[in-house]
Amino acid sequence: MTMDSRAFRDALGCFPTGVAVVTAASPDAAHYGITVNSFTSVSLEPPLLLWCMDRRSQRHDVFAGASGFTVSILGTEHREVSSRLSRPGEHSLDGIALLPTELGPPALADSLAVFECARENITPGGDHTIILGRVLRFFCPSSSAPLVYYRGKYSALDQKN
Ligand SMILES: Cc1cc2nc3c(=O)[nH]c(=O)nc-3n(C[C@H](O)[C@H](O)[C@H](O)COP(=O)(O)O)c2cc1C
Repeated sequence: MTMDSRAFRDALGCFPTGVAVVTAASPDAAHYGITVNSFTSVSLEPPLLLWCMDRRSQRHDVFAGASGFTVSILGTEHREVSSRLSRPGEHSLDGIALLPTELGPPALADSLAVFECARENITPGGDHTIILGRVLRFFCPSSSAPLVYYRGKYSALDQKN
């Protein structure tokens, strides 16, 4: 079956998601960040989560090869930083407000939740690599409104109810 990939992307975009930034260290100890919405909880016992990394990214090997990574769940005030870390080639954390973690790469300041992970395994998933992480530590620095991504645009929850 051939598939119209633009239409497929648009259909997938009908599923509203939160937005996260994954941070990881390169072999030379520089820290990098990438905006992702493929974050998914997987297992409570053991505590596992996953996200998917585009194999075509120049930074694929940094993120897929890192022995650990940090996931920061973004709030609405992170919209600009989310846009910045989704621009091609733009993975530096310079000038971004960060929060140190105990085990690994820094988190983004004022995140709703932070998960410090060890890489459990990686699996090929078409043009992406599925990165499974074991959560070693987590904390919830902020209770502000979550950043939402829907139909290719940033959005926010309607919290009137
Ligand atoms: C809301 C949003 C969610 C994204 N989710 C992912 C993701 O889950 N995995 C991924 O590899 N790239 C994702 N991207 C794309 C990357 O953030 C980024 O655009 C891409 O890595 C930049 O190209 P480069 O890595 O080749 O520099 C997402 C972008 C946006 C705006």
